[in-house]
Amino acid sequence: MDNAAIERAKAQFGKLLEDQMRRIEKVLAAPDWIDYSKVETLRIGILAGDGIGPFIAGEARRILELLLSDEVRSGKIVINDIEGLTIENRSAHGKTIPDDVLEEIRKYHVTLKGPTYTPRVGDPWPNLESCNVAMRKELDLFANLRPVRIPTQGIDWAFFRENTEDLYALGPYGLEVDDNITVDFRLISNPGSERIARLAFDYARKNNRTQVTCVTKANIIKTTDGCFLKSFYRVAEEYPEINADDWYIDIMTAKLVDEKRRRHFQVLVLPNLYGDILTDEAAEFQGGVGTAGSANIGKQYAMFEAIHGSAPRMVEEGRVQYADPASMIRAASMLLGHIGFPEKSRNLDMALDICAQYERKLVITGRPTGPSGTEFTDYVMDWLADSKLAMTWEKYIRDGQ
Ligand code: IPM
Ligand code: MG
Repeated sequence: MDNAAIERAKAQFGKLLEDQMRRIEKVLAAPDWIDYSKVETLRIGILAGDGIGPFIAGEARRILELLLSDEVRSGKIVINDIEGLTIENRSAHGKTIPDDVLEEIRKYHVTLKGPTYTPRVGDPWPNLESCNVAMRKELDLFANLRPVRIPTQGIDWAFFRENTEDLYALGPYGLEVDDNITVDFRLISNPGSERIARLAFDYARKNNRTQVTCVTKANIIKTTDGCFLKSFYRVAEEYPEINADDWYIDIMTAKLVDEKRRRHFQVLVLPNLYGDILTDEAAEFQGGVGTAGSANIGKQYAMFEAIHGSAPRMVEEGRVQYADPASMIRAASMLLGHIGFPEKSRNLDMALDICAQYERKLVITGRPTGPSGTEFTDYVMDWLADSKLAMTWEKYIRDGQ
């Protein structure tokens, strides 16, 4: 037996645990939720990203500027570009988020972020960590809220994916112990699990939802999933009016395709990796990952993004202007809701539903056979200005059932 390899692995593991203990100390000492209504000037940063990112983020920005025009004019809200979160600049600095870019990001309360490229083996770029994951960690954006709504099928799910722990916390720091054995680490903490559960129950309470479901594999992964599940039920006691139950991830994955059963799920709370996988499946029922937005929420900062990638192939083939901005527009709607404009957010959701799901006068194909992303965005903006917006949306929902 290679005792030296074991000792090396123990030392590395010890170091990782020290870092994580420091992280949890910070979580416990962190200031409470920021109150946007008390902020004098609310700053929104646009991170364009890579590939199709600058284009679709630009389209979503046009919508934000339209819906927030009064607030921008009065100086209550500022919308600015944040430069430098590109694969070229990140590679030049050899850092997932270069220090000056991170410093700039911290000057904004919320950001709207286009997809950023994550290098993989064989690429010309250095093998950097995912930008999304790094931002979630740096800004402690511990909750990933991913709604999936198909009103005509009675589906209205809110997934609360824990965003900073689980296999992601130490994803790049696994051990190659010797020539044969590799180990990764899964870390789930009590404070980390409690805060995501609390946010899910608060959401349920505020939105008159009656059921919150926790998803784990605690029968097998007894310690970490056990911690997540116990924290969930502990928090549930503070919300006696809401039903709390739990499912295992395997059967939950199956039940999401069971059309009779799936309607009954409302708010779901999951550890990071199960949440990553299950939300892609859920988004597929709604029309694919291109239709879903994602909110990365922390107590001080929040970042809103599409859940798909930067589509480098569209850039290579010169088709950027045909990229679908729907997911970024959905992310913009979540941003509006988060900073205190629920009505603007609802209107934008309705306009987007009409354009992308119901009326579909312009259908994006990703190629010159369909409209450009700019034409599609104009179409959404026309509906936003239409006095029959709510009435039309309601009619589509009624007729669809
Ligand atoms: C997501 C993505 C990211 C994740 C990738 C791009 C790192 O799949 O936001 O779901 O795994 O979280
Ligand atoms: Mg994912």
